[in-house]
Amino acid sequence: MLCLPLKALLENTLGVLKESFFAFALAGLFPPFACPMDKLVIKGGARLHGEVEISGAKNAALPIMVASLLTSGESVIKRVPDLADVKTMGKLLENLGAAFHYESGTAMIRTERINKHTAPYELVKTMRASVLVIGPLLARTGRAKVSLPGGCAIGARPINLHLMGLKKMGAEITLEEGYVVARAKRLRGAVIYFDIPTVTGTENLMMAASLAAGTTIIENAAKEPEVIDLANALNTMGAKVRGAGESTVEIVGVDSLRPLSYCVIPDRVETGTFMTIAGITGGDILIKNCRAEHNDALITKLKEAGIITGQENSTTVRLKGPRRPSGHDIKTMPYPGFPTDMQAQFMALMSIATGTSIIRETIFENRFMHVAELKRMGADIDIEGSTATVRGVSKLKGADVMATDLRASASLIVAGLVAEGKTTIHRLYHLDRGYERIDEKLRGLGAAVERLRDGR
Ligand code: EPU
Repeated sequence: MLCLPLKALLENTLGVLKESFFAFALAGLFPPFACPMDKLVIKGGARLHGEVEISGAKNAALPIMVASLLTSGESVIKRVPDLADVKTMGKLLENLGAAFHYESGTAMIRTERINKHTAPYELVKTMRASVLVIGPLLARTGRAKVSLPGGCAIGARPINLHLMGLKKMGAEITLEEGYVVARAKRLRGAVIYFDIPTVTGTENLMMAASLAAGTTIIENAAKEPEVIDLANALNTMGAKVRGAGESTVEIVGVDSLRPLSYCVIPDRVETGTFMTIAGITGGDILIKNCRAEHNDALITKLKEAGIITGQENSTTVRLKGPRRPSGHDIKTMPYPGFPTDMQAQFMALMSIATGTSIIRETIFENRFMHVAELKRMGADIDIEGSTATVRGVSKLKGADVMATDLRASASLIVAGLVAEGKTTIHRLYHLDRGYERIDEKLRGLGAAVERLRDGR
């Protein structure tokens, strides 16, 4: 028999372990038994060639999953990528009373019993896209209590514009103990102007307005392809959304919506990441199952840098990298401008270019976290405010580097693939939030890439 203090200590330790396990599982961060600290080891220098299939777009799949809250019944969404963020969104929907099942790229969501209205801190802090549930929950249940997301690695990222829009539609909004608490009898149509085009803000309001009384006009709306994809998905449910992809979106509210049956667009950021990988490795990559037109700004810049792109058909594009790209400037802008989500990967490409590139980040105030890591690999980059000056060097050298956010992780892969020697990217969980089976896809193109558990 254990003496009492020892027994208490054991029970306490087991309790803490159990709690941590469930906290991780709840947060959807790591599947049970997976190590949170996976790392990626890359031996650089291979010229990548072959074919790669693009997965469904994370940033389209997440709002479309949330749209299922607007209806009662079984929604089926196809080409949903197998990502940590998708699991987190599944947990959040389950937390609200939905039944969520994911198998081989298909998400099935039953929403007959939406009986809760809280998005807890644990989920929102892991995935900011959780704030997308405010609009649909308000529209469906008249209540939403969502943890206010704090700042994140790439910037402050407030949601004031989401809340301003919902207030204009008649919601009463208060802040209680770190939570946004919103109430409304029935939302009503309104004219809403965004000072800054916000992607998830436009999506939140499009969903809320779909079940509101009357017509909502969103001025200076975000035009991203993911916004259009959500509008298309909503329209298949019986919503009346017009103008998505333009700066004015009109939504005529309806009384009810049908369950969803929809297939998500390909991921343009994953596509763009493989494009820069072809460019930096002097490779020859056929990217399949993509929508090249969603990457027009990037493709223009890649062509200027000497990367040859050829459209084989509407969903396939081929990229051939030069021996060394030439330096070009970019400035991130809302779509159709150069995407902030490709800035880090393009900077990695420019780090080995001939000449100097000026990179201006205008969307997020802290999206240069990859610079310090690229410098550890020998890149010559200076930052002043929101501008990075990249003086191309003839080679990078492998090093231990730390992933700080999702796209920063991708830029370290791009750099690691060309660097001399071994690059080890730590904190890989950032990458797993947004790139489906990336190590497997890279190996398919001939890269020497291995995923290891920390400690090995
Ligand atoms: N902003 C405000 N107030 C708001 C909302 C936004 O000031 O209420 C500001 C932001 O701080 C930022 C700008 O507006 O300066 C644009 O932010 P936006 O709201 O468009 O970003 P988001 O909706 O939070 C989405 C993507 C991001 C992507 C940005 C920009 C999803 C789930 N996330 O974020 O994706 O970088 O649009 O295109 O769609 C990623 O996938 O790695 C990622 C960060």
